Amino acid sequence: MSELSPEPLNGLHRTHYCGVLRAPDAGQKVVLMGWVDRRRDLGGLIFVDLRDRSGATQCVFNKDLTPQVFARASELRNEFVIAVVGQVAKRSVPSTNENLATKEIEVLVEELHILNPCKTLPIHISDEQAPDEGLRMQYRYLDLRKPRLVRNIALRHKVTKAVRDYFDSQGFYEIETPILTASTPEGARDYLVPSRVNPGKFYALPQSPQLYKQILMVGGLDRYFQIARCFRDEDLRADRQPEFTQIDMEMSFVERDDVLTMVEGLVHSLFAKLQLPVPAAIPRISYSEAIEKYGSDKPDLRVDMVIQDVSDLIGGQTGFGAFDQALAEGMRIKGLVVKGQAHITRKEQDHYKSIAQGANLPGLFFIAHTPEGYKSSLLKFLGEEKIAHICQQMGAESGDLVILAAAPSKDLSVALGKVRLELAQHLNLLDPQRYEFLWVIDFPMFSWNEEENRLEAEHHPFTSPLPSDLERLESDPLSVRAAAYDLVLNGSELASGSVRIHQRDLQARVLKCIGLSLEEAETKFGFLLNAFGYGAPPHAGIALGLDRLVAILAGETSIREVIAFPKNTNGVELMTGAPVVVTDEQMKLVHLKYDL
Ligand code: AMO
Repeated sequence: MSELSPEPLNGLHRTHYCGVLRAPDAGQKVVLMGWVDRRRDLGGLIFVDLRDRSGATQCVFNKDLTPQVFARASELRNEFVIAVVGQVAKRSVPSTNENLATKEIEVLVEELHILNPCKTLPIHISDEQAPDEGLRMQYRYLDLRKPRLVRNIALRHKVTKAVRDYFDSQGFYEIETPILTASTPEGARDYLVPSRVNPGKFYALPQSPQLYKQILMVGGLDRYFQIARCFRDEDLRADRQPEFTQIDMEMSFVERDDVLTMVEGLVHSLFAKLQLPVPAAIPRISYSEAIEKYGSDKPDLRVDMVIQDVSDLIGGQTGFGAFDQALAEGMRIKGLVVKGQAHITRKEQDHYKSIAQGANLPGLFFIAHTPEGYKSSLLKFLGEEKIAHICQQMGAESGDLVILAAAPSKDLSVALGKVRLELAQHLNLLDPQRYEFLWVIDFPMFSWNEEENRLEAEHHPFTSPLPSDLERLESDPLSVRAAAYDLVLNGSELASGSVRIHQRDLQARVLKCIGLSLEEAETKFGFLLNAFGYGAPPHAGIALGLDRLVAILAGETSIREVIAFPKNTNGVELMTGAPVVVTDEQMKLVHLKYDL
């Protein structure tokens, strides 16, 4: 640590942030405060880029003009916190640093105050190249000084502010719901908090405010929103944190389309405020169509490729065992057209085959539609005429590549969906500055949990079945569709919501379908069932993942880059070290013992 003793501010007031001065400010006397971003010593001149969250300004210390100040400046090191008093001057030599917004000017320093020195840094602040992520998280306060992180945090603030303004303009109330609560089923494990005053009892941290927001509707509050913290003990990955934030909302006396329209209004107003091109009307497709065409319930529409079923075009006995057998067994043959990729190498073909194999699809078959004719191992079985017909029907032109495969319908689509995404990545089709939204609607109400041998709610058990499918709720539950919807942005599930059940009897029937007896339902959700008996209005809502939204808008691939203090993939917050071991005394207080 430097021997320098920090100076107090002594009434000195900052006049400007470091990133705001421009040529017309020349001649002004200014006081800037910030961190030493870099220092260059040119003998009689020392240049210091002084940085704060707004940017940096070049400050000049001149040995001839201010010898004492110059002498102090030679003690400056990176990340010292300083204040300078000086005059803004137009720069005689324009900066070579094109990124510096203040490059037209510099500050000729007359006074220097060292407010705090800085130890040798474990990570470089101006280094945009990510070093070891663990080190970045441990020294998050240094990491946060990086321009990229500052931009992300500022963007997050702008998004949150725009969200609040929008919902306020639409008559929503922002209402906080409890963090210490009872379990809300969203499909993950709960974080539990032992109660000191209620021995043996635990709160659960909310996986979402789902039940409270519905109760708020029963409470007559009509339109609710919240920037809500949610907690889920689940396996972590780039777009999942154990603690994350939702833009949560609920509306009374509405149907599905009212919620979708309200969210579209939010997207428009947000994009307008961020000066991004406002997306056109957001398309809607059903879950089954999404799987059929894109092999995913969150299709990335930045990619034009659509999975096409060519079973009927191939038809009959072709002599090609894989296809003939598949069709005889009721499987399907589907494919993709890859524009301009007729020339892909054998090695690339093998790579896509391995992606397909990873998704349980044993084989991929290629047809290259080259100017010299068709090239394919299928040629000798299907013949040129049929191949030409298939290519023409699929919209493949000269220069394009057709990929075909055979398997049971849904598995085939899912596997081809993976190949589609891999191709998109490989061909650089996923432009991070393009925003493609999509509504996926009519999700299945239930899915089958193999491990527990029971039905489980695909969204959550408070979601209403589609009225047209209600009669099959008990007889054929897996065919029942839900009034549930997802908003997808660039292949990421941005939001999920549904029309809710608001009738006690129907809620009890749905809980029974997922294996909860009336008694268990009463114990777990008695308050909700009870509330439904006291005049619950029809209601519906949705929650958007704020972290995911900001990450996509910031062009980041991990939500950790838009969260001030994220956790690593083991759920550890490396700066504080949480979770930590607690003392026996603390354990005793909350009536806990543990054996490790
Ligand atoms: P759901 O569980 O689908 O729905 O969550 C809504 C949205 O929250 C985001 N999200 C996450 N983001 C980061 N880390 C996580 N671990 C994580 N989990 C979810 C996603 C997701 O689309 N109560 C319902 C909403 C409703 O029905 O109104 C719910 O929570 O972007």
